[in-house]
Amino acid sequence: MEGGRNLKIFPPLLVMDKRLGYNPTVAIAVKNMEEKRMGNDRRPDDMVRITTPELADSFIEEQIGKLRAQIGDKKVLLALSGGVDSSVVAAMLIKAVGSQLTCVHVNHGLLRKGEPEQVIEVFRDQMKANLVYVDATDRFLDKLAGVSDPETKRKIIGNEFIEVFAEEARKLDGIDFLAQGTIWPDILESEQGIKAHHNAGGLPEDMKFELVEPVKILFKDEVRIVGERLGLPANMVYRQPFPGPGLGVRCPGAITRDRLEAVRESDAILREEFKNNGLEGKVWQYFTVVPDFKSTGIKDGNRVFEWAVIIRAVNTKDAMTAEVEEIPFDLMKRLVQRITTEVKGVNRVLYDFTPKPSATIEYE
Ligand code: XMP
Repeated sequence: MEGGRNLKIFPPLLVMDKRLGYNPTVAIAVKNMEEKRMGNDRRPDDMVRITTPELADSFIEEQIGKLRAQIGDKKVLLALSGGVDSSVVAAMLIKAVGSQLTCVHVNHGLLRKGEPEQVIEVFRDQMKANLVYVDATDRFLDKLAGVSDPETKRKIIGNEFIEVFAEEARKLDGIDFLAQGTIWPDILESEQGIKAHHNAGGLPEDMKFELVEPVKILFKDEVRIVGERLGLPANMVYRQPFPGPGLGVRCPGAITRDRLEAVRESDAILREEFKNNGLEGKVWQYFTVVPDFKSTGIKDGNRVFEWAVIIRAVNTKDAMTAEVEEIPFDLMKRLVQRITTEVKGVNRVLYDFTPKPSATIEYE
């Protein structure tokens, strides 16, 4: 993918995102993992595409058998971001080995509104998973304070994630396996040299796990169907792409807590309005950005000097190029009304009409 994009920063754990630069330690771990994978199952050339509930059910049944055979009575660890792939892996492992799985959900403070809560509700409350929830917001935001370079921001987020995850892993006893949401395109792209395959890369050298990758022969659309059959909510399984560094790349320049809050709240309003107006699932990706500039305005008869929220809504097939969605004007007006009244510190809303190219989809 262009610019190393669409790489999952977590999980799978790392981060051979071109934007993050090259890390030799990671490369060693990745090489080891690649070697381990060789000879393991690849997607059979004649595998029927999973398009129906029945096909998904038989895949699930087969995988559960394989997982039980691989894991036995040992313990498995999973970095659960709440994204589609790691969520499906979690649901599959809960079904296969139940309490032998421990999920670690690291909240880096850059998640969308309601996401950490949903992870806890779905996995801990509904599926009864062993879930370690780590609110590392302060740690991440303190490290990011004053950092405006996009590359450096990404590196800090990626490295800090691994540190937090490794710390949590060390607290757990007797873990032999690390589960990952690797999917078939990840493997293909790594083989084609488009991107180095992430995997357990990045974990400290002394932490050695055998990999468990129950969806590694599936395409994304298949992962979604399998996830639905495993009982995951549709909004988790069909959610739009979300970059690993999260809202951090939508708060351009140095992240401040108040501007980040404006991004999170305006994003929640945009998502709610798109859902209520039939655009959810129709538009490929939509989000808000709050750049670090203020402009003059008037609220309740008083002069204010506040931020502008930029709305981005695009359609694409492969994220290499993208067209801007033609949002109905009435909806646009409603968005402006809601965002300027409900989001603290915002007095202006702009719509980004720029296709890719010349702009990229994200701002950093
Ligand atoms: P751009 O901005 O390059 O984005 O047009 C293309 C797609 O990639 C997503 N994206 C990322 N995904 N880690 C990810 O997992 C990242 O660091 C990252 N950066 C961009 C972006 O949201 C869009 O869908």
